[in-house]
Amino acid sequence: MSGPEPSPVVLTTADGGRLEFTCAPGSSVLEAAAEAGATLPASCRQGTCGSCHASVTGGAYELGPYSEQALPADERGRGDVLLCRTFPCGPLTAALPYEQSRILYGGIPVREAVITALEPVAQDTVRLELRLDGETDCQFDPGQFMELQVPGEETKRAYSLADTGNWEGRLEFYVRLREGGRFSSYLARRAAPGDRLTVHGPQGAFGLHETGLRPRWFVAGGTGLAPLLAMVRRMAEWQEPQPARLFLGVNEPHDVFGVRELAAVAAELPGFQYEICVWKPLPGWSGPTGTPADRFAAALPELGGVAPDVYVCGPPPLVDAVLRAALLGGVPPEQVHRERFLAG
Ligand SMILES: Cc1cc2nc3c(=O)[nH]c(=O)nc-3n(C[C@H](O)[C@H](O)[C@H](O)COP(=O)(O)OP(=O)(O)OC[C@H]3O[C@@H](n4cnc5c(N)ncnc54)[C@H](O)[C@@H]3O)c2cc1C
Ligand code: FES
Repeated sequence: MSGPEPSPVVLTTADGGRLEFTCAPGSSVLEAAAEAGATLPASCRQGTCGSCHASVTGGAYELGPYSEQALPADERGRGDVLLCRTFPCGPLTAALPYEQSRILYGGIPVREAVITALEPVAQDTVRLELRLDGETDCQFDPGQFMELQVPGEETKRAYSLADTGNWEGRLEFYVRLREGGRFSSYLARRAAPGDRLTVHGPQGAFGLHETGLRPRWFVAGGTGLAPLLAMVRRMAEWQEPQPARLFLGVNEPHDVFGVRELAAVAAELPGFQYEICVWKPLPGWSGPTGTPADRFAAALPELGGVAPDVYVCGPPPLVDAVLRAALLGGVPPEQVHRERFLAG
């Protein structure tokens, strides 16, 4: 008697590309794609970060254990899956929410980099700048992330690139320091300019979508600003014509950062507006208050029924609140592009 057969899998990218391979029994779709030479966007590979999100369009499968923050019940109900936890039970087809260019056929690049700047920009938030060692080719799409490895350890963490691709080998990140966190503790206690780090990437599916002149609205919670800053910086560099609006929210006034960087984009990009709101205002804060999801929801009617492309990044509750507000405001789910900053 022969054992279970491998399952044929067909994945379709947002720009119409097709990826066909077979998935051996017991392998996830993510593993089978890698086995076939295609590294799909992913980070934790254990169902907790949400980076390998896709939509099944046909066929039966089983889902291994995953965190509901990475795949909320309503997304699951629409047929969405995490490919690192998807085990086909026969032929399977799925749609990938990104273009072919995000699939790596030569594996994830691994390079060495040196810390060139490490500075506090708000309470518990630092700006980290690295230079690739001996290399100037630093091309990536705004929205992508790198995994940074703690020197001398196996520990890697994903951080979104805040700047645009460049020929100076420069990588810029904004990191929220988490009490007791492995990478956070390295940055808070040991890291210094001159340290060498191994960097894995660029990787990831999050990024700008070309949809004509439709307005682009960006919503960030805390360091979720990083990939959105990269996107609006790219828009400024290329003088892209879509009206763009960015809502950044932080907890308290001492958490505010990115003011100079957003002002610089506004000075270069006609049609770009931004606002920073504080959830728990203290005396002395005269700016907007509330969450960026509330501010986004309140502003949507100003577009007079035009549904913008929405890009949201930050902690899962914020991303989910913006998704709900967008759907209530008439924005189709496929126009809401999201990255959840989850621990891997
Ligand atoms: C695709 C992607 C991109 C990311 N980009 C960024 C970025 O640009 N800037 C940034 O600051 N972070 C980003 N993150 C989060 C980052 O990868 C780490 O999870 C975070 O910095 C914590 O790592 P750590 O090693 O310090 O903590 P860990 O050792 O992983 O965890 C220590 C403790 O902190 C808690 N914790 C960890 N992360 C969070 C969280 N996000 N919210 C609440 N509690 C948490 C854990 O539950 C644990 O108790 C990103 C995550 C993903 C998946
Ligand atoms: S890579 Fe699949 S959930 Fe993180």
